[in-house]
Amino acid sequence: MQSVSQFYMEPTRILITGAEGQIGQALVRLTRNDAHFSVTALSRRQMDITRREKVSEVLAAELPDYVVNCAGFNRVDPAERNPQWAYEANQHGPALLAEICGDMSIPLLHLSSDYVFDGHYASGYTEADEAAPLGIYGDSKWQGEEHIRQRLPRHIILRVSWLFSESGSNFLLKTLQQARSEVRMVAADDRRGCPTSADDVGRVLMAILQQLVNGAEAWGTYHYCGAEITTRYGFSEAILAAARQYEQLKVSELVPVTSKDLPDEAAERPASSVLKCSKLLNTFGIRQRPWRSELQRLVRELYESGRLEQAQSRGVGAGDADQVAEA
Ligand SMILES: NC(=O)c1ccc[n+]([C@@H]2O[C@H](COP(=O)([O-])OP(=O)(O)OC[C@H]3O[C@@H](n4cnc5c(N)ncnc54)[C@H](OP(=O)(O)O)[C@@H]3O)[C@@H](O)[C@H]2O)c1
Repeated sequence: MQSVSQFYMEPTRILITGAEGQIGQALVRLTRNDAHFSVTALSRRQMDITRREKVSEVLAAELPDYVVNCAGFNRVDPAERNPQWAYEANQHGPALLAEICGDMSIPLLHLSSDYVFDGHYASGYTEADEAAPLGIYGDSKWQGEEHIRQRLPRHIILRVSWLFSESGSNFLLKTLQQARSEVRMVAADDRRGCPTSADDVGRVLMAILQQLVNGAEAWGTYHYCGAEITTRYGFSEAILAAARQYEQLKVSELVPVTSKDLPDEAAERPASSVLKCSKLLNTFGIRQRPWRSELQRLVRELYESGRLEQAQSRGVGAGDADQVAEA
């Protein structure tokens, strides 16, 4: 017979889209062993969020309590050359999800980006600041947000910035790749932001979900990023220092440069990606975690587990570090 406590511990059913991305993987990993959640994690192959029939069919079969949309097209320069890729995944897909979730009364948690802003506020952006995207990627994310706001009142939009993780295309892995193969590296010292670990975003999403489950009616847009503002150069320095605890890197010189000295970038990038996160603290009690301790942990895990070699043999970190998808 089921006890009363078992009854109340019915897990919350969440459906995660884009489950093979940085945040998707982190959320799947974190929720896997948490009895509060029952998770359906779907890659793009399993459910393309731009396919109406597929999304309707899957949601009707799974009947999740919440959908968490971790799918997105984040490659900033290719987005300038092929806008339809960005608008499909970042505008059309979220609009469709919001519409179908609305029809089925399912709240939607969605990830967005600092790229919705023009980057002129060095001290950072609040949720009330006006969006003014500089390029296609940022505009596609903004349009996606707007569709969700219009179609589905019960939504959370979480804007994050400068993601790093153990997989995928990100500044940490690209910097390590370069540092192991080149003697001299450059990094922009005029781009400010707050690095944010994907695991940290996963924890924030779980904390928000738990409060929604407990009745918080705090729908809307929020910002989250790691604590401490730095520049790309400052972040690179921290990455190299962390990695040198485990190996002798080939790089001997890290040079601070301005953005205009970087190789050609198709997309203009915000000078400031800093997000102010006090709304999240005041509403949900969620504090920013320092990115430096997350960086230390991840670098240690990458070296100790051998995953750095695996990631780099797959070519994950290839390319210029400052041209990472989400710069
Ligand atoms: N990366 C950053 O620095 C950053 C910064 C700020 C905000 N964000 C936002 O955070 C979210 C997650 O970012 P991330 O870095 O975790 O992304 P990611 O690693 O690039 O993963 C995105 C995932 O979405 C999948 N996807 C793309 N189009 C899809 C579609 N139509 N249907 C279903 N799945 C689809 C991708 O699959 P394929 O690989 O098969 O295409 C990939 O697995 C995005 O909304 C992004 O805009 C990211």
